[in-house]
Amino acid sequence: MRKTIFLAAAVLCLLLSGCGAGNTKDTPDETPAAPVQTPASDETEVSDNTPAGPPAGSGETAASGFDLERRTVLLNNGIEMPILGIGTFRLSNEQAENSVYWALRDGYRLIDTARIYGNEEGVGRGIRKAIDEGLVTREEIFVTTKMWTDDFDDGAAAIDASLRRLGLDYIDLMILHHSQPRNDVAAYRAMEQAVEDGKLRSIGLSNYYTPDDFDRLVNAAAITPALLQNETHPYHQSTEMKDHLAQYGTVMESWFPLGGRGNTQTLFNDETISAIAAAHGKTSAQIILRWHLQAGNIAIPGSSNEDHIQENYEIFDFELTDEEMAQMTALDKNERFAAY
Ligand SMILES: NC(=O)c1ccc[n+]([C@@H]2O[C@H](COP(=O)([O-])OP(=O)(O)OC[C@H]3O[C@@H](n4cnc5c(N)ncnc54)[C@H](OP(=O)(O)O)[C@@H]3O)[C@@H](O)[C@H]2O)c1
Repeated sequence: MRKTIFLAAAVLCLLLSGCGAGNTKDTPDETPAAPVQTPASDETEVSDNTPAGPPAGSGETAASGFDLERRTVLLNNGIEMPILGIGTFRLSNEQAENSVYWALRDGYRLIDTARIYGNEEGVGRGIRKAIDEGLVTREEIFVTTKMWTDDFDDGAAAIDASLRRLGLDYIDLMILHHSQPRNDVAAYRAMEQAVEDGKLRSIGLSNYYTPDDFDRLVNAAAITPALLQNETHPYHQSTEMKDHLAQYGTVMESWFPLGGRGNTQTLFNDETISAIAAAHGKTSAQIILRWHLQAGNIAIPGSSNEDHIQENYEIFDFELTDEEMAQMTALDKNERFAAY
């Protein structure tokens, strides 16, 4: 039923054209206070086992809604969202300001931050600098932040505080940072109200790792989540969750797209990834990021390095073949790097 509604909305939106206003076309420790926590940042989890998953193959058509020419995806609310962005986990305010500025200068239009990263002010400064220099307009960029679990009992105040720290009139996407059955529905309702009030354009979730947990929230919601941000990379491809999300038109966004700080070399030195990289004259990072996009995952690689930021955006001038996509799919170990 929801799928039907979503499809009808998408078709209507396409017919009317220009969906989505214009054309856009983690101390931070990501661990919530409850229910599952380790202060560190790396672990292993077993959950995603579905062998099939969404079609891994051919670029533009592999992931429904992903347009690699426009570098955007149409969300289930009709808003167009960039599919490659800059992540800011573990960046100081100063680093975040620089990374955001460099990214916008290099062509990125998507920025990911969170209240718990403590760098929303720096992100806001980087945005303003790019706007002041005429590199981008506010309407061209897509800013995501996250509501931390400690704030779930007063979501309205948390939204206002993020707006203030970012220095923005509205946020393009706000997501609940972690599942927290005790009060995440209340926090989600606060985000729904903020959509009505024009403070948020889209809302979604992060760190919901089972269909049941996702449905618990969705069944209590009036607005279907536009997006789910979960740890997703070649060794943890999230196929079960992606299959489940399809009925809602909810898109997967990958955190730790490169494996996360301290783990990247594991993926970069993977024999399959290295061989594909050599075949294309690209780096392993670029191959992994291109794979995310062709597999239908929005990717937000984090970096404080000007050269890496540029490199990570130079992935629109080549395409992985169906065979290479199949090789990448075969790398799935259903293993997470993070411990939360
Ligand atoms: N929702 C959540 O719970 C959650 C959790 C974690 C992260 N996130 C979000 O997802 C984003 C991505 O995750 P992440 O930043 O933790 O991990 P990541 O993007 O997988 O990896 C970041 C690491 O990759 C390195 N790197 C980036 N580009 C590189 C390149 N071209 N060559 C070599 N090294 C490169 C970075 O180092 P340099 O700085 O030296 O480039 C950094 O050490 C975060 O920034 C954050 O916005 C969300």
